[in-house]
Amino acid sequence: MSVLVTGGAGFIGSHTAVVLLDHGEDIVILDNFSNSSPDMLDGIRRITGKDFKFYEGDMRDKALLDRVFTENKIESVIHFAGLKAVGESVEKPLEYYDNNINGTLCILEAMRKYGCKIMIFSSSATVYGNDNPVPFVEGMKTSATNPYGWTKVFIEHILEGVCESDKEFSAVLLRYFNPIGAHKSGLIGEKPNGIPNNIMPYIMKVAAGEYDHLNVFGDDYDTPDGTGVRDYIHVVDLANGHLSALEYARKNKGAEAVNLGTGKGTSVLELVAAVEKASDRKIPYVITARRPGDIAECYADVSKAKRVLNWQAQYDVDDMCADNARWALKQ
Ligand code: NAD
Ligand code: UFG
Repeated sequence: MSVLVTGGAGFIGSHTAVVLLDHGEDIVILDNFSNSSPDMLDGIRRITGKDFKFYEGDMRDKALLDRVFTENKIESVIHFAGLKAVGESVEKPLEYYDNNINGTLCILEAMRKYGCKIMIFSSSATVYGNDNPVPFVEGMKTSATNPYGWTKVFIEHILEGVCESDKEFSAVLLRYFNPIGAHKSGLIGEKPNGIPNNIMPYIMKVAAGEYDHLNVFGDDYDTPDGTGVRDYIHVVDLANGHLSALEYARKNKGAEAVNLGTGKGTSVLELVAAVEKASDRKIPYVITARRPGDIAECYADVSKAKRVLNWQAQYDVDDMCADNARWALKQ
């Protein structure tokens, strides 16, 4: 029996593939390389010394899904594939709804057709919207402020509906906070196309001398140093969380939303200082206006992950910055 990893060539999927293979799971990866490259698959093989089946193609290609499900015995799906740039989703809402929602429906239809009843889904802290108080707790009302966020909210509802209609189905909706870091080997990590939207890849380009400074989006928030606070989580911790979720889903039916974060907030300026320490490079920055849509603080209540999945993050921000720098500065 195999675990199908959609989007397994991507940032979080590749790290999860390593954890699964190291744990003795058989995996099959499906990816269309729309935001990744084959090097990631080589990295997974080099780190683990193991091979796996790979299908290049789009998750909306039903004939391809038929091949994946008939050529393999797929027991469960860890579903990372999706588009994830918030700003781009505002410009191209139809592409985001089609890729993320329609893509998920295609996977779920194939799962139904072939009797596969476990899905671990990549949701996001973005589903907490912009008017819940921190820390974010799973029972809070969900909403979104952009098409990307709505795809996560809608897919969570779709999976709840599937579990309601099929009492044998298990869905774990993992709400990631801010994943950064890279595998210790330096062989896999985040490789965004174009100008990065997220802070860590941007800081890394400043550290590498590609950009001369970081723009810090606002220093007038109601936070200790005025800059935005986020719950950064090491991608390897996140990857381990998927294995815990899979083990949970094998024993429990129904839909369960779980936060994956550290529960600790770090400000933009604290993150800059941690990267400077880890990389021994100066990160020049300029304070600019707030970025529209940003919230002051975002961090998780992590008690449910501990209680339900028996999982908690192990790495701190210094570890995340050191591992991220090792990867990004050799690119
Ligand atoms: P990523 O872009 O590195 O990985 C996504 C992978 O999916 C890529 O390899 C891409 O080529 C593939 N893909 C996209 N559409 C596809 C399609 N139609 N068919 C086949 N493959 C397709 O992103 P990531 O950071 O690894 O994120 C993985 C998941 O986690 C995404 O669903 C994302 O929305 C979610 N998430 C990410 C973050 C974050 O900050 N990185 C935070 C919360 C949630
Ligand atoms: N920031 C800067 N300068 C930059 C980029 C970001 O100051 O160049 C600041 C932001 O204002 C924010 C913090 O750094 O305070 C983090 O910003 P990111 O863009 O890295 O991350 P966000 O928290 O805005 O959003 C990310 C993902 C979303 C996801 C959310 C919650 O991009 O998709 O985490 O998981 F929904």
